Amino acid sequence: MTDKLNQSLTEALWKIYNRPDSPEPWAMGGNLPWDDPDFSKRMLREHLDESHGAATRVTKERLMQIDWMWKKLGLQPGARLLDVTCGPGLYAVEFARRGCEITGIDFGPASIAYAQNLARSEGVANRCTFVQQDVRHMDYGNANFDAATFIYGQLAVFKREEARALLAQIASALKPGGKLCVELLNQNRVDKKHNTWWFTDNKGLWGNRPFLHLGERFWNEEEKISIERFHLIHLETGKLDQITLCDQTYVVETMVSMMKQAGFAAVEVYPAWDNLPLYDAEEWIVYVASKTC
Ligand SMILES: C[S@@+](CC[C@H](N)C(=O)[O-])C[C@H]1O[C@@H](n2cnc3c(N)ncnc32)[C@H](O)[C@@H]1O
Repeated sequence: MTDKLNQSLTEALWKIYNRPDSPEPWAMGGNLPWDDPDFSKRMLREHLDESHGAATRVTKERLMQIDWMWKKLGLQPGARLLDVTCGPGLYAVEFARRGCEITGIDFGPASIAYAQNLARSEGVANRCTFVQQDVRHMDYGNANFDAATFIYGQLAVFKREEARALLAQIASALKPGGKLCVELLNQNRVDKKHNTWWFTDNKGLWGNRPFLHLGERFWNEEEKISIERFHLIHLETGKLDQITLCDQTYVVETMVSMMKQAGFAAVEVYPAWDNLPLYDAEEWIVYVASKTC
């Protein structure tokens, strides 16, 4: 081992040793580096991997959800649908195949490129617009969407005030009576035990060279936030990456009231994905909110 590598590894270990006991929520961004080009390419592999549903649910489950949302959102061919944090467009393109006019927003470059190609290869590119953009900075102009989806828990990766602003922004992009489907973790089911784990690998989300992943999970009882902190030591360079992932949880009453304040008149609540047979259905609550007419 060279002196330089030795020194970098030692510094990384001391930095981990000297970490704050309990991470400040959102202090280090609070989200995965989805918009980093290399991370986005690696994440795309996970989205498309049919052996697990961690990034995007597997096709069989996705199609059940799409059938469900089709009914609950009152979609029909020609409906204008906004997919917020659309990822690689696996939901959006299926909605377009069924006749919807889609706008998908996501800031993952590899995901947006994949969604655009998928729309072309499915022959629905004329009904799909995919925009690479941070959803917090999206301007929908005079959009008049019939419906919107915000699924797989992504509203929770934003601070409460950002979540409020996002709900209001989506409400204003919908036509009167338009519907929004939001999927959020069930606060009662979130793991609140302090937990640590580690593994080594040379493939997957954290890169294709040998690394050591040290993970910690915390529950911030005051703010009701689940926080995961990852320390990644790249063993060939000694480089340390530290990532903190925050999930703001909500009780149902709070989320319903936030939706009403954002401009939605009525909110239907479906625990456990309305009992759809998804592998993790119990973990989730789905909200279908209708904008004031
Ligand atoms: C778990 S994936 C789900 C993607 C898609 N909804 C699905 O189920 O296939 C979360 C997505 O949220 C996107 N995302 C997270 N924060 C975002 C932000 N601030 N602006 C835009 N996209 C964001 C990520 O890039 C990623 O594609």
